[in-house]
Amino acid sequence: MTDLILGQVLRYSGPPFLQGVEAAQHISQGAVAVEAGKIAAVGEAAALRARYPGALVHDHGRKLISAGFVDAHVHYPQTAMIASWGKRLIDWLNTYTFPEEMRFADRAYADGIANRYLDLVLARGTTTVCTYSTIHPESVDAIFTAAQARGMRLFAGKTCMDRNAPEGLRDTVQSAYDDSKSLLQKWHGVDRLSYVITPRFSPTSTPEQLAAMGTLWREYPDCLMQTHLSEQTDEIAWVKDLFPQSRDYLDTYEAQGLLREGAVYGHAIHLTAREKSRLIEAGASLVHCPTSNTFIGSGLFDMTLAQHLRVGLATDTGGGSNFSMLRTMAAAYEVAQLRGQSLHPSQLWWLATQGSARALHSEDKIGNIAPGMEADLVIIDLASTPAIEQATRRAETLWQAIFPTIMMGDDRAVCEVWVSGKRHET
Ligand code: GUN
Ligand code: ZN
Repeated sequence: MTDLILGQVLRYSGPPFLQGVEAAQHISQGAVAVEAGKIAAVGEAAALRARYPGALVHDHGRKLISAGFVDAHVHYPQTAMIASWGKRLIDWLNTYTFPEEMRFADRAYADGIANRYLDLVLARGTTTVCTYSTIHPESVDAIFTAAQARGMRLFAGKTCMDRNAPEGLRDTVQSAYDDSKSLLQKWHGVDRLSYVITPRFSPTSTPEQLAAMGTLWREYPDCLMQTHLSEQTDEIAWVKDLFPQSRDYLDTYEAQGLLREGAVYGHAIHLTAREKSRLIEAGASLVHCPTSNTFIGSGLFDMTLAQHLRVGLATDTGGGSNFSMLRTMAAAYEVAQLRGQSLHPSQLWWLATQGSARALHSEDKIGNIAPGMEADLVIIDLASTPAIEQATRRAETLWQAIFPTIMMGDDRAVCEVWVSGKRHET
């Protein structure tokens, strides 16, 4: 059976950071043909209607058809404590995050949050996330099970911490290695699921634990490795105290085999010249988390890095203050403005789709609309509220029609989500 989805199609031929706005391709009266979970064809509606006469047609008129959003850095266990007031990173972690993460020793609690979290993000058009869990293996089983039930492509790993965390929220060098390895063997490559080796960040891992993660990564080189890098200045000062031998924050990872292609670093705001050039040389990925960076008061990401390495976009739930990639695009725009960098809407939308997919080395499967890619799609109403509708009424270009939804849109703009070629009502 073929499904034929009609609307305005937005797709990319590559990164607009390298190719300019022409990297975006807009088909005003477009169509996407979906068969067996994959995109079979994309083109003009009239041509595809003729090519697939027996298809089930879903006509969305002037609505926008895009690849589903990819949220490249989240902590799904922080769903229930999102938008907790006040404080900077380290005391925010100690006051709100760690007590909540403690609860994930209970599998039933973890299942409840995992299901709630995925329902929240799907309703906002996000079809893939790359998530941290907690130190508990149950928390990884919970999120993979919930994603598997929804047919989602999802990345997750056990968060490893063997110091500077409360009793009950610490593993050890050996248990972090053993638990990570058995979860990896259990889940990596099953359906659409990928295991990610996940030391939380240098302050909560001993050099020995980071080294054990490096060993595991050498044993399973096709996995991604995710961690945090240079989010806040006081965090960086703490890393300097904890790792007196290291040249800088990045070196605490580099020295333990945790810097190469496939490394995905969240935040990466306050980088030294050496760190930037090593990240570029190594082909690492960075993930910009703008709502988190303003909410926790971390700083302003330098988007010129997107010209040199893989950069994705993320909510960083629950450091971020929203589950929506539309709200995250708006924050990315505002953060860039504060740095004197004006991001074009084509760049913002790309970051939330193909950019994040590229940061997760999955751009051959998700994040774009092209034949052979997995059919994860979002249908967006570009006039979802009276305020947005009146702002777009005089739009003469696609980008004028899209930008008010980027700046003011939320879950009300998301009409429909397709996951692996199946319609998922939101
Ligand atoms: N650094 C280490 N852990 C975290 C976390 O949970 N959230 C954020 N924003 N930064 C971190
Ligand atoms: Zn994070």
